[in-house]
Amino acid sequence: MPDQPSHPAADVHLPADVDTSRRGFMQSTLLAVGASQLPLASANAAPASSATPPVPVVPPRAVTLHINGADHQLSIEPRVTLLDALREVLHLTGTKKGCDRGQCGACTVLVDGRRVNSCLTLAVMQQGAKITTIEGIARGQELAPIQAAFIEHDAFQCGYCTPGQICSAVACIAEMKAGTASAVTPDVRQQTVAFTDPEIRERMSGNLCRCGAYNNIVTAIQAASTQTRA
Ligand code: FES
Ligand code: FES
Repeated sequence: MPDQPSHPAADVHLPADVDTSRRGFMQSTLLAVGASQLPLASANAAPASSATPPVPVVPPRAVTLHINGADHQLSIEPRVTLLDALREVLHLTGTKKGCDRGQCGACTVLVDGRRVNSCLTLAVMQQGAKITTIEGIARGQELAPIQAAFIEHDAFQCGYCTPGQICSAVACIAEMKAGTASAVTPDVRQQTVAFTDPEIRERMSGNLCRCGAYNNIVTAIQAASTQTRA
């Protein structure tokens, strides 16, 4: 019986000491790369005698924040965000930290009636401003209309985004009442803005909800805006 024809690759003969496995190939490649970096690494290495440069220390400074109708005296570093000042220093933990980089809206508070991502502003920048957090939305023991509407229309599930949604909704309603145009306003020359769902969705688009309660949030804002429009 004739021999089976051999595959061309089978004719390549390697020395017995060459490791043909994938792992062996990777190990030898990494070793080669590592070896090629050695002179560079040693050239870039800091001299053993050089000391680590000292981390600059910025001393805390006195800051007064006007929050929910009361002045708060703080001593904080200038680099502290308003969000961290609220949560970590003043323990106003209703304001939530989601992304800490201006992408989720969980940290929204009102500064002079306008929406601000408190993770994107420094506390020292807000001296003299009127800050309202979720703790200041209710009227004493009475819920604000937007809070009552969120409950009535089941506009939250886990509730993590809710403080930011509510603060944002307060400003959103005020913007529409003031006739401020948005990206979806059909005619920006008109002085009135229709309280439509697209207007509300556009204006609330900076507030994300992982639970996806958006439909009910829009319904709640519609309901609250009806009460506060008169
Ligand atoms: S925590 Fe500020 S926008 Fe997400
Ligand atoms: S209710 Fe859960 S993230 Fe919005």
